[in-house]
Amino acid sequence: MPAYKVYEVSKHGTLFSSHQKSWDFNKVPWTAGKDYTAPTCAACHVSLVVSEGGDVITEMSHKMSDRLPWRLMGLIYAHPYPKSPDTSIIRNKAGLPLPTELTGEPAAQYLIDSKEMEKRLKTFQNICLTCHSSEWTENHFKRLENTIRTTNEMTLTATKIVSTAWEKGVAKGLAQKDSPFNEYIEKKWVEQWLFYANSTRFASAMAGADYGVFAEGRWYMSRNIQEMLDHLHLLLRQKK
Ligand code: HEC
Ligand code: HEC
Repeated sequence: MPAYKVYEVSKHGTLFSSHQKSWDFNKVPWTAGKDYTAPTCAACHVSLVVSEGGDVITEMSHKMSDRLPWRLMGLIYAHPYPKSPDTSIIRNKAGLPLPTELTGEPAAQYLIDSKEMEKRLKTFQNICLTCHSSEWTENHFKRLENTIRTTNEMTLTATKIVSTAWEKGVAKGLAQKDSPFNEYIEKKWVEQWLFYANSTRFASAMAGADYGVFAEGRWYMSRNIQEMLDHLHLLLRQKK
């Protein structure tokens, strides 16, 4: 999971590594701006956070998902967070154990609705607001939503290429009762979402700067689409 690496290179992570010695980690509650000057994993995801005036900004939470509107590490697409921690009950319309269709359309009955997403987003934004302006905070989450949309689109493009390979009989997928993950073009499809789309989203969510573009980021997503297309054309030519 790249979360820590992304955090490490982010402004927050570099501030953490240079200033942590002067922060008081044992203080409960933790006062933003006083006990620490940049958020840690816990400050953003689970800790009780209070303002300098002593008001509770977010309650301590026992599960990390209390503050998460989205499942970024999606199978196959990023999507609204699942309602139940037991994700084994999820079936999409095609009957597959996936939280979205192969087109990216969410299996909505198993996922939180837009009202719940909005509530969690507000909770998250309140943490940022202890140190940043509302414009800064809103822009960050607008960029994240944009990243979710574009990475899902690039995953859809890759899914269409692998689906064409299945339909034309140059790769064997579920319809042919074979694993959809074992052939070359299928492995490249998996790389698209499991590695590149997820890394790009993590970098966007946690302000990992260059990670989103370079280290397994957007560049790789577009190169991978190119390579998948080339390979599909090769397979189709060989078949003729
Ligand atoms: C500045 C606040 C911030 C910090 C610090 C931070 N995160 Fe995050 N994290 C986010 C945001 C925002 C998201 C995306 C919200 C969502 O998925 O709904 C996220 C998403 C995640 C996810 C994906 C969750 C999912 O289900 O897809 C993981 C895992 C994660 N963070 C782990 C970590 C770890 C580990 C650290 C410390 C190394 C960390 N985060 C530090 C803000 C932060
Ligand atoms: C405890 C204070 C604190 C909290 C809480 C906090 N930040 Fe920050 N953040 C900082 C500081 C300090 C900087 C560095 C500012 C600078 O370099 O001018 C920073 C920088 C950033 C940057 C710029 C990154 C870059 O590469 O230039 C972004 C984006 C950001 N924060 C987003 C967020 C978001 C979103 C949240 C809430 C999920 C959040 N921050 C919560 C203190 C905080």
